Amino acid sequence: MSARGIATSRAEEVVARCKRLASFSEDPGSTRRTFLSPAMHECQRELTKWLVDAGAEVTVDAAGNLRGFYAAAQSGAPRLLIGSHLDTIPNAGAYDGVLGVVLAVALLEALEGRRLPFGIEVVGFSEEEGVRYGTPFIGSRALVGRLDEELLNRRDANGISVRRAIEGFGLNPAEVPRAVLADDALAFLEFHIEQGPVLESLGLPLGVVEAIAAQTRIEFVFQGRANHAGTTPMHLRHDAIAAAAEWIVAVEQTAHSQPGLVATVGQIEAKPGAANVIAGEARATLDLRHESDDVCARTADTIVRLAEEIAGRRGLKLRRSELLNQKRVAMDTFLVEQIEEALRGIGCTAHRMVSGAGHDAMILAEKVPSAMIFLRSPGGISHDPAESVRVEDVAKALECGLHLLDQLASSSELQKRMCRA
Ligand code: GLV
Ligand code: MN
Ligand code: MN
Repeated sequence: MSARGIATSRAEEVVARCKRLASFSEDPGSTRRTFLSPAMHECQRELTKWLVDAGAEVTVDAAGNLRGFYAAAQSGAPRLLIGSHLDTIPNAGAYDGVLGVVLAVALLEALEGRRLPFGIEVVGFSEEEGVRYGTPFIGSRALVGRLDEELLNRRDANGISVRRAIEGFGLNPAEVPRAVLADDALAFLEFHIEQGPVLESLGLPLGVVEAIAAQTRIEFVFQGRANHAGTTPMHLRHDAIAAAAEWIVAVEQTAHSQPGLVATVGQIEAKPGAANVIAGEARATLDLRHESDDVCARTADTIVRLAEEIAGRRGLKLRRSELLNQKRVAMDTFLVEQIEEALRGIGCTAHRMVSGAGHDAMILAEKVPSAMIFLRSPGGISHDPAESVRVEDVAKALECGLHLLDQLASSSELQKRMCRA
């Protein structure tokens, strides 16, 4: 088979594997795989088989991250981490996160046993989306030493703490500190679907991420007064849903006021939740992003003030708790330039972009030089079952990854970094 034929069949296999992993779900008929759910066990079991066949040694750390180590040509050499997350949102597509892990496995397979001056550790993070605990990046936080007591004690909707979830998965929370990256970690590389329309609009298969936007998540609880829907006149109500609704529209208007700003109230829950009862409580989440930390912080203040004003005027109380305050993160300049060179080396335009979506790379960047390669998202669709990827783009991503590994293996700058690692 020609080189192109091999690349295409590997890419087809990557797509087929992503679809297979999408079948490991907590929900029948759709994909939902949250932190340390039984479906995560099945997903990891499948990946473990592929990793072992590719020559990696596989472990699961105490935060539930799957880690497959492919040794270097010489023992004691540093390691390059390549990966992404294995958890999903509810009603997910097959590629967000998973593609980056499956592509990393395919890169090991494409090496066909060839060893490099550095080892490769494939990482499948156990949690990135923040679905089960409201707080995202539980898996990658463990690698940078930020899976702390507060997070371990956080509870899900069923009152199960992160600590208990770890035990329930057969792991030992006391060993979480052992998940932290050792000094031999050289860099982190993440392949991910773009989850937006930019690459498609430019007609490009791949792009290189130069920074990941700042992101704030806050939970708001509007506390009103539950009462009878038939007997309480309109001017005597303290309706929590009506207050939340007014605030949600104000959030949308605020986001329109600044280019590049995106604000989403993606979740709302009202109590007691009956057609003939005025809602006594409405809980709503805010997700706010911009490439400038400053704009993100100022807008969060404005939106909090709006909520306070609306609640006050309607005679409601307001509680809020910050779930995430993540600053903009720049990717490593050396790695970005190396990716650009690899893209040009395979005949692609090297397009730089800022990611509006959050990624594990923004957490890993706290501890190791990190970089990301985006694959075009057909239709710009993500966080939806219609999410997809083109086989030819996956083939290009594999080609780019192999080019990059060879470049890094012969880079004098990397040799210097390896001596320091
Ligand atoms: C991750 O999917 C995010 O919400 O950016
Ligand atoms: Mn996602
Ligand atoms: Mn993702």
